[in-house]
Amino acid sequence: MNWPILLDYAQRARENAYAPYSKYRVGAAILTNEGHVFSGCNVENLSFGGTICAERGSVMAMAAVGDRVIDSVLVVSKDGVTPCGMCLQVLAEFASPKCSVRCYSESGEFKEYEFRDLLPHGFRTEEVSRTDEAG
Ligand code: THU
Repeated sequence: MNWPILLDYAQRARENAYAPYSKYRVGAAILTNEGHVFSGCNVENLSFGGTICAERGSVMAMAAVGDRVIDSVLVVSKDGVTPCGMCLQVLAEFASPKCSVRCYSESGEFKEYEFRDLLPHGFRTEEVSRTDEAG
């Protein structure tokens, strides 16, 4: 795990955050089991519900190159927030059982969590089964 590299990616993405409405800039970076790093920033929309968080942006970038297992997640924001519920559910689709999450504030302080502790009782059911593991 290389947290400094993830932090660098997330900070660079945060610089590109498009947050004209909230002014709250977020950057995220994820490391996959393949050893690749993907980043994302929040992209807001005049129709506020169209806003995409930084974390989900990084997952979309990952999926587009075919990686499917997230080893670790880093989020950087003004005050070190944890991912929102919707992002946790999206991350859960791909998070490895040992996935760790670091949430940095812009001052450099951070808290570290196990992903499973952030979403201990997330939606999960065998009733909706994957018919194609390759996705
Ligand atoms: N946001 C993120 O990008 N990630 C989070 O973890 C929390 C919230 C964004 C969404 C919106 O653009 C802004 O922060 C304020 O909610």
